[in-house]
Amino acid sequence: MGVHVAHWRKTHSQPNPQTYKIMSAENLQELLVEELKDIYNAENQLVKALPKMAKAALNAKLKDGFLTHLEETKGHVDRLEQVFKLLDEPVKSKTCKAMKGLIEEGAEAIEDNDASLTRDAQLIGAAQRVEHYEIAAYGTVRAMAQLLGHGEAAGLLKQTLDEEGATDKKLTAVAAEVNRAAINEDGKE
Ligand SMILES: [Fe+2]
Repeated sequence: MGVHVAHWRKTHSQPNPQTYKIMSAENLQELLVEELKDIYNAENQLVKALPKMAKAALNAKLKDGFLTHLEETKGHVDRLEQVFKLLDEPVKSKTCKAMKGLIEEGAEAIEDNDASLTRDAQLIGAAQRVEHYEIAAYGTVRAMAQLLGHGEAAGLLKQTLDEEGATDKKLTAVAAEVNRAAINEDGKE
């Protein structure tokens, strides 16, 4: 074994108990359920965060957009509960660290800055990161559900995936407006 391989093994192949604890699955069906617990938690975190983002937004379209997505997100939680039921699994939640971090970044934007269109632009950036994360997560579980023959569950996951995609597009459109307006905003030191 070459030096590089030996080094790689030394640094990468140590079992990390934490990793196994976060998501341990012996087969694809188990992995699907683990992924669903993660998204279920992520969506519930978002139900709590979106009202704060709506409250902080200055631009009316952005504010409305956050409130509309709050209602959609409650629907996503409901759909996931249906998916667990279709899979004959109890509804369970497992802390999604990624969503926690993404939401924290949005919260920091609110705490560290006064309300402004520049802050709105920052909130949009945070919100789009959330949407992209969810698009990836739903794409993953939808594909697994489909492959494992859970057609109805896959259909529900696809509906949410499409709504996340539509939200992302709406945010891009609002960003164009907000960014243009933010250019003319006085920089505050
Ligand atoms: Fe969602």
